[in-house]
Parts: sequence; C-alpha cells; structure tokens
Amino acid sequence: MPGKILVTGGTGYIGSHTCVVLLQSGYDVHIVDNLSNSHQDVVDKIARITGKTPGFTRLDLCDKEVIYGFMKEHQDITGVIHFAALKAVGESWEYPVRYYHNNILGLLNLLNAMHESGCKNLVFSSSCTVYGQPDELPVSESAPLKKALSPYGNTKKMCEEIIEDHVTATSLNAISLRYFNPIGAHPSALIGELPLGVPNNLVPFLTQTAMGKRECLKVFGDDYSTPDGTGIRDYIHVTDLSQAHLAAIERLEKEKNTQPCEVFNLGTGSGYSVLDIIRTFERVNEVKVNHQIEDRRPGDIEKVWANPEKANRELGWKARLGLEEMLESAWKWEEALAQKH
Ligand code: NAD
Ligand code: UFG
Repeated sequence: MPGKILVTGGTGYIGSHTCVVLLQSGYDVHIVDNLSNSHQDVVDKIARITGKTPGFTRLDLCDKEVIYGFMKEHQDITGVIHFAALKAVGESWEYPVRYYHNNILGLLNLLNAMHESGCKNLVFSSSCTVYGQPDELPVSESAPLKKALSPYGNTKKMCEEIIEDHVTATSLNAISLRYFNPIGAHPSALIGELPLGVPNNLVPFLTQTAMGKRECLKVFGDDYSTPDGTGIRDYIHVTDLSQAHLAAIERLEKEKNTQPCEVFNLGTGSGYSVLDIIRTFERVNEVKVNHQIEDRRPGDIEKVWANPEKANRELGWKARLGLEEMLESAWKWEEALAQKH
C-alpha cells in the first residue's frame, strides 16, 4: 500500500506537478507551503486533474514549533519530498541572508521534526548548479562540486552536505535530485510555473515576450564556445521531472536504495542553445519571438548537460518528452494565464 507523503512547497511549480503524479499513483499527499511564491488555488487545480484532493496546511518551515507540531500530529507520514525553498539566483545576490535563512533553516527544522516523529525517508530538490562549469560533459554525479556561483546555489550545496551528515548520524535515508533546467507545464494547462514579476529564466521570459507582455527577449551572449555562440543547457519537461520524484520516493519506501544517501542527475542528456530554444518555440507554436543579442549575463556558465544514466539505471526513470513537447506545453500554459487576466 502506498503511504502518505508530505510535500513541502507542494503548491509551487515542480511540487504541484509531483503531487499530481503521487496522487495518480495511489499515494496520499499532504502539502505544506507558506505561499510565499505560490497560490492556494493550486490545491484545487491538483484536485481537478487527479480527482483527489491533497491535504494542505499553510505553514512556514522556518517556524520550528509549527513544523514540529505538524509532524507530531501526522505520524502516518512515511516520506517527505522537500521542494520548499527560495530559488531566484539574481535575488539571492541581493538578499543572501534571506536565502541562507529560508533554505538552510527550513531544512534543519524539517530534519529535526522528521527525526522526532520517526519519519525516515527524504527526497531533496537539488540542482545542477552544484557542478558550476563542469570540466567534462556530460556531467555525471561523480564530478567534483565547484564553488557555487550564487548564494542560492550555495544553499543547495550546503543542504546536500547537511543531509549527508545527518544521514550518517541517524536512520534517515535520503535522495538528492539534481535537476537540470525544468521547463514546460502540465498538458491540462491547469498548473505551471507562475513567475512573480519579471522572469529571470529563459522560457517564462520567452513565452511572455511571445504573448506581448515583454517587448524583447535578451539573448545573453553569442560569443560562448558553443556551435552558435549562445549558452547550452539540458532542458527537461516538468512532467518527466515529477515522475522521477515518484521513482525516488518509491525507492526509499520500498527500501531499494543501495546507500542511505544517494544523488541522481535529472536531465535528458541533450544540450540545447538559447537560439535552439527560440527557433524550436517559433516553429512548433507558429509564433514569433522578438529577440536580440546582448552582453553575457554575469554568473552564467557556458554549457552544461547531464549524464542521466545513473537515474535511468537505478531509478528506472528516463526523460521521455522532447523539446517540442516542452515548448508547446509552455506556450499552452502562457495562453491559459493570458485568458485569466
Ligand atoms: P517554486 O517557488 O515554484 O516552489 C517552491 C515553493 O516553496 C513555493 O510554493 C513557496 O511558496 C514555498 N516555500 C518557500 N519557502 C518556504 C518556507 N520557508 N516554508 C514553506 N514553504 C516555502 O519553485 P520550484 O521551481 O517549484 O522549485 C522547487 C525546488 O526545486 C526548489 O527547492 C528549487 O530550489 C529547486 N530547483 C528548481 C529549479 C528550477 O529551475 N525551477 C532548478 C533546480 C532546483
Ligand atoms: N537566458 C537568456 N535570456 C534570458 C534568460 C536566460 O539568454 O532572458 C539564457 C541564459 O544565459 C542561459 C539559458 O538562457 O544560457 C538558461 O538560463 P535560465 O536563467 O533559464 O537558467 P539557468 O541555467 O541560468 O539556471 C536555472 C535555474 C537555477 C538552477 C539551474 C540549474 O534558474 O535555479 O537552472 O537547475 F540552479
């Protein structure tokens, strides 16, 4: 019988897609979120997609007493998927202390509360940002971690280390998932990414430009050492990514993990340039994207893509959807948002 999973940050972008997959696979789901970057109506959207309503509690993980109390009251929770974090790279340079406070303290409180209540399975949202600019591509999990390029990136590196140490000292089993670049939205267009203010990331900026909400997409640099000079990333469909969380939590719940602390890359294994993204978006959606080449963005790496073989082999998971599906769903989501406003 699938157990009950606590999803922190479950009304957010990746969390909401993962709740859908968990509910569709028979898991009971409870979301906790402080709604600092999401809306409670996402709970209803998840219910519309799945026909099942997840539990929801608005709480801040930085409030120790509250998360302790929550875990004590919900002793039936068998595993936790921890998405809740602040995630804007640029903002983390403006407010580093806010980022360290939220992302580190939130994790520490959660780990302690799980320990107190005897909950032993944790899946953590990490990022390929921990590799910096890797020396070898595709990058695999054994590559050395580099100095983080932002306070946000550093919180991910530090959280991975904290989890590793905690696992050594306790009976916790944990999996850190290093996402490459998640994009796209659920095919229903009921849930997707809701960037607050001006988006930092390529795809939300691109879809808003195509919609006419932004005048022009800046392409940050065309002088990189890549075939067309623009930066290369491994974009992954958020619905594929959510399936990997199901595989990870199942691995822990069924005690199939081979080590108490494991790390997996979640990418497709293919890299695409910024211009590849713009051209593919224009072709599959038959919409023009006004764009121009600008200077490089400080802190950007040149290129990164994953070696996802470990996740393919050990989690039995593989990204299935291609760039066209990612960019079609991203546009469908932008159109759905435009109808609401
Ligand atoms: P998101 O902002 O959409 O979701 C995060 C959710 O956590 C939000 O709903 C927010 O309200 C909540 N939250 C933040 N701090 C909280 C706190 N202290 N207590 C309770 N709730 C809190 O972000 P996302 O894109 O879904 O990212 C999910 C996770 O994946 C994050 O940890 C992020 O760092 C990581 N990640 C994201 C990307 C990406 O490109 N989206 C890439 C790599 C890693
Ligand atoms: N880019 C542009 N114009 C834009 C935005 C981005 O040209 O307006 C370019 C960037 O220079 C880069 C590529 O598009 O070459 C992707 O940029 P994103 O900002 O979408 O993504 P990043 O790879 O910089 O970072 C993202 C998340 C991080 C996360 C990382 C790895 O923002 O939180 O992926 O998962 F750590």
